[in-house]
Amino acid sequence: MGFDEMDVDTIWMDGEFVDWDEAQVHVLTHGLHYGTGVFEGARCYDTEEGPAIFRWEEHLERLFQSAKPYEMEIDHTKEELTEATKTLIQRQELPSCYIRPIAFYGYNSLGVSPKDCPTRTAVAVWPWGAYLGEEALEDGIDVMISSWRKHASSQIPTNAKTTGLYVNSMLAGEEARRNGYAEAIVLNKEGNVAEGPGENIFLVRDDEIYTPGLSESILDGITRDSVIKIAEDLGYTVHDDVSISRGELNTADELFFTGSAAEVTPIRKVDNVTIGNGSRGPVTEDIQSRFFDIVERKTDAYDEWFEYV
Ligand SMILES: Cc1ncc(COP(=O)(O)O)c(C=O)c1O
Repeated sequence: MGFDEMDVDTIWMDGEFVDWDEAQVHVLTHGLHYGTGVFEGARCYDTEEGPAIFRWEEHLERLFQSAKPYEMEIDHTKEELTEATKTLIQRQELPSCYIRPIAFYGYNSLGVSPKDCPTRTAVAVWPWGAYLGEEALEDGIDVMISSWRKHASSQIPTNAKTTGLYVNSMLAGEEARRNGYAEAIVLNKEGNVAEGPGENIFLVRDDEIYTPGLSESILDGITRDSVIKIAEDLGYTVHDDVSISRGELNTADELFFTGSAAEVTPIRKVDNVTIGNGSRGPVTEDIQSRFFDIVERKTDAYDEWFEYV
């Protein structure tokens, strides 16, 4: 669904609330030419206590951390961004939504050095359902190992959520979809499993859980962190600092993706090889159902993870 079909009319930009159609930048914006922006994607859930943003503090913290390698000064405080986001959700009466904060080098000159370009900051919110479809959450998805490799973290900081990085994600995801798959798995430079184009990946073997470590060229996913804690609290052993070889994907009992957009999505086939029983596995289901109970606030546990609007 395109933005024009959505009932949203306001964006916060550089300290002001502006009409949706007025939230524009110059075509010679630095970030547009060189991918010099950092951003976040968070979800706000519909709960009995009203809209609740999942792990907002961690998303804000990652936004500011992502800006650091680029020496980008975000001219607004975390408190201002929080206030702006809550106001956007309230004003547009959204019971649940996706939240997209972004900071980028703006318009002034177009040398590669952004030194003279101002930092622009914006927050937009809009209604967004299941990223890979409702069915995907239940039935799982078929994925393809991309022929594109993930950047090494010595080439570009992969722990920063940078706009320019997503051309790699786009190439991998579109390659997969062109070939009839729902999503891609991207290997790192060493040929080990890194992550999805916009998701972290988990593997289940003999009831223990494995996920690539932070040095495997992955984004330090906030859902990844949440799922590690949830799984441990459910009593599972989680190995969160491992290398996973390509072949281990095929022999896994279960695989699943995590992400703010993808939430917890089971993977049923990789390159047409069936994983486990070819549907959502029991460990994935256990963690996924606990995850949704938590984000929909059907339990009091983990209340510190929520920012109520
Ligand atoms: C490349 C990449 N990996 C992993 C993730 C998952 O991170 P998070 O759970 O913080 O959304 C995302 C989504 O932001 C992503 O874009």
